[in-house]
Amino acid sequence: MIIGGSASQALASEVAKNLDDKLCHVETKKFPDGERYFRIVDEIDEDEEVIIIQSTGYPQDENMMELFFILDTLSDMNVKNITVVSPYLGYSRQERRFKDTECISAKATARLIQAMNVKRVISINLHEESICDLYGIPVDNLSAMPAIAEYIKENTDEKPVILAPDKGAQNFAKEIATILDTEYDYLEKVRLSPEKVETKTKSISVDDRRVVIIDDIISTGGTIVNAIEILKQQGATAVDVYCVHPVLVNDAVLKINAAGADNLQATNTLKSEVAGISVAKTIANHIKSL
Ligand code: R5P
Repeated sequence: MIIGGSASQALASEVAKNLDDKLCHVETKKFPDGERYFRIVDEIDEDEEVIIIQSTGYPQDENMMELFFILDTLSDMNVKNITVVSPYLGYSRQERRFKDTECISAKATARLIQAMNVKRVISINLHEESICDLYGIPVDNLSAMPAIAEYIKENTDEKPVILAPDKGAQNFAKEIATILDTEYDYLEKVRLSPEKVETKTKSISVDDRRVVIIDDIISTGGTIVNAIEILKQQGATAVDVYCVHPVLVNDAVLKINAAGADNLQATNTLKSEVAGISVAKTIANHIKSL
């Protein structure tokens, strides 16, 4: 039985279709004061395996709270075999303490999720692999890169150079480049504040080439805008931008387009106007393999 939370219902129905499983009928709503309501409409057998699909991106607290409501309802129904699939797991960006007495929000989230009798967590391109260690239950960190590479293959005639906008993303560039049998590289980025990044110019042979930029998250768009500007200055003929999680706050899409991106595509771990690449098969194939 697949249960889709409000943040991921379309993706949940696609996963259910891929697995030939039943999508549970649920009722969700918001009261006038902003509080959430959740009800499971279908019958679920105590011994049934239940997979909840719910990303916990913006509004993070509401989506996270709804996930807890689903888990608590299942606990009241005595369902024990529960897997949480959170394709975008909110609060993952603070997975360690930078200043004394800061809350490690990824750890707080992990404690709450596993306190609710969850057997396994599945996510996609977690911000850091070390987040898995914050849980005392199995956490499978899947990669959306094969799905993104397949999309690039189907939609690009030339062999592009794959570029990571910073060193942390170089493994994504490598994974895609290996699948597409092309070159990859990365730029050097320094983050000056949560909103401001500086990307150092690095000489990469992009002259007269199509470039694909790949990152896990695009939030303010600052990282990508800097990268596009440098690549265009260095003679790239086209710059296509791909990411896994389209967080895209405020006018990030406009900023990226204005910087000269030729394409902007992301996966559907989060709902977005640019989420044209589905991770449903990635999730379904992994569940089949367990
Ligand atoms: C950083 O480690 C991530 O991989 C992304 O590069 C970052 O989250 C992007 O943020 P922004 O779009 O605000 O520059």
